[in-house]
Amino acid sequence: MFVGHVGVLVALCRLAQGLPSPRWEVPPDPHVAKIFASPQAIANCPGYAASNVVTTDNSITADLTLAGTACNAYSDDIHDLKLLVEYQTDDRLHVHVYDAGLNVFQVQEEILPRPKNEGAKSSSAQLEFDFVEKPFSFSVKRKENGEVLFDTTGTQIVFETQYVRLRTKLPLDPNVYGLGEHSDPFRLPTFNYTRTMWNSESPFIPTNDNLYGSHPVYFEHRGDKGTHGVFLLSSSGMQININRSDTDGQWLEYNTIGGTLDLYFLAGKKAADVSRQYADVVGYSPMYPYWAFGFQQCKYGYWDVNMVAEVVANYSTADIPLEVMWTDIDHMNLRQDFTLDPERFPLAKMRELVTTLHQRDQRYVLILDPGIHRVGNYSTYVRGHEKEVFLKNEDGSDSWAVQWAGIVSWPDWFAPNTQSWWTDEFNRFFNADTGVDIDGVWVDMNEASNFCHTPKCDENELEGNPPPPTNSPRPNTGRPIPGFPGDFQPTPSSRNSIKARNSKPLSSRQFANGTKKGLQNRDWFNPKYNINNHRGNLSDFTIYTNYTNYDGTRQYDTHNFYGHMMAHTTHSSMLSRRPTKRPLVVTRSTFAGTGRKVTHWFGDNASIWDHYRASIRQMLSFVSMHQMPLVGSDVCGFNQDTDEYLCARWAMLGAFQPFYRNHAEISAIFQEFYRWDLTAAAARKAIAARYQLMDYAYTALYRQTTTGAPMINPLFFLYPGDPATFAIQHQWFYGDALLVSPVTTDYSDTVTFYLPDATFYDFWTHARIEGQAQNVTRTNVSYTDIPLHIRGGAILPMRVESANTTTALRKKDFSILVAPGRDGMAQGSLYLDDGESIEQGGVSDVQFSFDGTKFEAKGEFGYEGKNGESVTVSEIVFLGLKSGSYNGTAGQVVKKGAWKLTGGFTVEV
Ligand code: NOJ
Repeated sequence: MFVGHVGVLVALCRLAQGLPSPRWEVPPDPHVAKIFASPQAIANCPGYAASNVVTTDNSITADLTLAGTACNAYSDDIHDLKLLVEYQTDDRLHVHVYDAGLNVFQVQEEILPRPKNEGAKSSSAQLEFDFVEKPFSFSVKRKENGEVLFDTTGTQIVFETQYVRLRTKLPLDPNVYGLGEHSDPFRLPTFNYTRTMWNSESPFIPTNDNLYGSHPVYFEHRGDKGTHGVFLLSSSGMQININRSDTDGQWLEYNTIGGTLDLYFLAGKKAADVSRQYADVVGYSPMYPYWAFGFQQCKYGYWDVNMVAEVVANYSTADIPLEVMWTDIDHMNLRQDFTLDPERFPLAKMRELVTTLHQRDQRYVLILDPGIHRVGNYSTYVRGHEKEVFLKNEDGSDSWAVQWAGIVSWPDWFAPNTQSWWTDEFNRFFNADTGVDIDGVWVDMNEASNFCHTPKCDENELEGNPPPPTNSPRPNTGRPIPGFPGDFQPTPSSRNSIKARNSKPLSSRQFANGTKKGLQNRDWFNPKYNINNHRGNLSDFTIYTNYTNYDGTRQYDTHNFYGHMMAHTTHSSMLSRRPTKRPLVVTRSTFAGTGRKVTHWFGDNASIWDHYRASIRQMLSFVSMHQMPLVGSDVCGFNQDTDEYLCARWAMLGAFQPFYRNHAEISAIFQEFYRWDLTAAAARKAIAARYQLMDYAYTALYRQTTTGAPMINPLFFLYPGDPATFAIQHQWFYGDALLVSPVTTDYSDTVTFYLPDATFYDFWTHARIEGQAQNVTRTNVSYTDIPLHIRGGAILPMRVESANTTTALRKKDFSILVAPGRDGMAQGSLYLDDGESIEQGGVSDVQFSFDGTKFEAKGEFGYEGKNGESVTVSEIVFLGLKSGSYNGTAGQVVKKGAWKLTGGFTVEV
């Protein structure tokens, strides 16, 4: 029913505004079958021949010329290419094949600043580049053991205006990971498998499809022979095929619809080294505020500010710590960014809400969408229009599409005034003195998601409008709100059109050849090579791919980082509000390098067991391979109704993932943890453990921000020589010392998990258990339990007890848990700072060690605590000793004291 209303709205607005067609090149009818070149056409492509080869100590350059008659398989072959090979560091090799004319699109430096070429000597580098001149092919070898990591011989490079193909041979059934965003197995399938990269709104996170982000990097693990990584720096739509055949063996093949072949080979050789080497290319994560590890609650469908307050209050009553409260688009007036519904979320009351939250040491997050309601009485739009911040139609009028508010224009994040306009909107609406003083912000729908199916945007093609709520008593305000029951009628004012005032020529948005801005005259909508975007053609449900960005590039080439740009622009705006504090920006759409500034949640999963499991594999890839540490799923599931059992398990699972937020869709039942006794009990227990471990997790995050070593470890990262770990996707290490092995079978109380060949200790009972590189089965795992094991050899800094907020938690003393390995020794560390400042006055980075008899703390001691925060260790718990028994656990010794973490100390056992 609602769809119809929006359809009417679209038609009305089109009429009223006299809008031109939203696009200015009529795409072919999407229903007409595409014409594909036959595989034969590719097989006959001539490849390239290298000439003018120049080799230096640290580089190779060559000209590559089409080696025969153009095959023009999916578009026109480009005749002249260049090869650049750089030994950038001893562990990073850069190989770039690009067009000699420099017309083909390359990702702008401002989006992905290129890593410095440190000019390593090829003689000392870990990797070796070899090539054959004609037909041109190349290989990359690990020198130490002769492993050929990448080898393009046997298939020609195809480099056309709208199709680029590169294939490498791989060992049979390789261990390949990464290539996000997807919900597929963590260890990727190696037969008949395709990965599409085209950022799209992806309800229900379907498997074998492209999702919200694009991260064209893979890790390949070869056991004791090492792990390496390959990053294709490209934002082009692409399909990566992993497959094998009797004749061609095993391969991985890039098929892009544009861009150059800009490859970074990362030598490893340990998996965590590859994580670091990838961070050297795309950037390291920033530190996030300590409070971002607190538990967070959201729902689409909190009808008014009273209900928001009530949820916060209910958490307190239920004695479940709630750190951060979120509000979805419900707060907006007519679904417009930077507005409040005057009746349901009036400003005065919203300010009161935020003040109260802050007084209670809780935080608040609001949402923003990229689509800016294109109506003349909406000041955010008017100011943006005046500053020319929007993508434009050919006649100079602002772009248009449909998102929550109705007809919207898309910000052009490249336009010179967009950042200042966005920041100005932030400073007005999120003003600490007069507005909603948020602590973090959520940027959604930024793939971007367009409710129009196709560039035609027929009114009967609209989708994505929320169904009427089914589960909530909502005060009947009598006020029409888009997306809510009742007849939606655009208010007269919203029909006030803003005429396309800007009739300036598009001179600022025209192409300049030779500047890597993209070839002209391409088919912007339906390139012949089909990347299999699960939403349909390239422009379906998103920003039309023919739109020109301010810098002359096209959405065709930049689509995959539109959301990245919105998120990074938002980060700067948040910084301008609170220049000294670390911003928390959570974005749905991401690209390689988005993690430099902001973080991500996994979008619209469902309240089903498979998505509970999927959250693990998604976390493993994002944290360890895409350098986005603070990630997590919608706990208890977003779409559809959850239940107390799934929600209890998910409350426990989420507590050991970095970002921990319960969130549900508008038509789903309410699923706050306190809704069911069982779920509440599970949450209380899990949150208490999470909070006691918060400094341990915060330290792990700090390590990732400084060394690139991931704060979540897939098992093979720590046991690289144990093939049984390579495909594990239902267990993980939280940090590098806490093995999480949740029940993953639907409604089961049994879990079979793998324990590598090492000593472990049960986190809950402290009992020692010897891992024997075998599966262990646990039965009777109640819904308020989750198997956790401490890896022998680790020292975990914990708080003596949990607290209701992270502010209160930081006042608790430390309890240090020492878990010796088989050699009787253990090590760990603790990073301490004030938890929120960008520039820290003084920090502590304490190294703990235990040699079997002596515990020692040493390192840097610069943080002394503030506002009553504790920097005292009041307890050291030793596990696995030969003698001693404490609380019935053999081998446990507990030392009590008051050791200050402001200087080193030793303790004898
Ligand atoms: C889509 C987001 O993925 C979801 O989390 C949110 O609740 C809705 N948009 C409404 O804003």
